[in-house]
Amino acid sequence: MVDIHTHILPAIDDGSGDIDSSLLYVSLMKEKGVTDFFVTPHYIVGEYDNTPDIVSRKYDELTAAILHKGYDINVHKGVEVYLSSGILEKVDLRKYCLGNSDYILVETAMNGFPANVLEIFYQLVKKGFKPILAHPERYIDIIKKVSLVEDLIYRNVYMQVNAGSFLGVYGDQVAKTAWDLFHKGFIHFIASDCHCHRDEYILPIAKQVLKERYPDYTSEIFTDVNPAKIISNEKIEYFNPAVHQVSEEQETFLGKIKKLFT
Ligand SMILES: [Fe+2]
Repeated sequence: MVDIHTHILPAIDDGSGDIDSSLLYVSLMKEKGVTDFFVTPHYIVGEYDNTPDIVSRKYDELTAAILHKGYDINVHKGVEVYLSSGILEKVDLRKYCLGNSDYILVETAMNGFPANVLEIFYQLVKKGFKPILAHPERYIDIIKKVSLVEDLIYRNVYMQVNAGSFLGVYGDQVAKTAWDLFHKGFIHFIASDCHCHRDEYILPIAKQVLKERYPDYTSEIFTDVNPAKIISNEKIEYFNPAVHQVSEEQETFLGKIKKLFT
């Protein structure tokens, strides 16, 4: 497994508070079969001003501690960039990509997208970035109108759903939206977005839930195959035929069940 969204760097945002919490999480991840993960602390102008230098320093601290512990796991640098109006003019986002790739993990306002959000994504793509929207299922605009996600995918934006969303960690509405996105084939990655506040690593739990309902390869596309392509900076399909096939089969199956009861 490759986890592309974590807040494991110590004392840099609202994630891990210290190096011991970070190492505890790394050991849990290793135990559960994670081979690689990206550290993605928040970058929010005026709130978490985590410049590339600060991230690099914390990254060095964590990787040195991991080496000291002897954990066999690869750590990649990244940031979760908060998109706000004017950010492209203010910041050189090239230094905020995931690892050495063109993929960049972004988030924005949960309670209402900025009015120019489509323009921001357009400019990002135009500049050669491959934006990945973190936890689309948690934004009020998307909860109200899931088709917005399809529109964004057509505009070359990838989607990363949080593992906890499938399990109801963020409430019923978010869970419903996550499953809806899954069934529509509007997901490219599932990641933990772990903040190290609980002694439980949720990505393998969500993966297991998916495995119990769908063929193994379905969950692996989101937790293994696509995330690995970020490490090698390979292109990922916006609409994956295998995912759509499963969704359609599932819908057909559900349709048959429904018919039995109507
Ligand atoms: Fe996050």
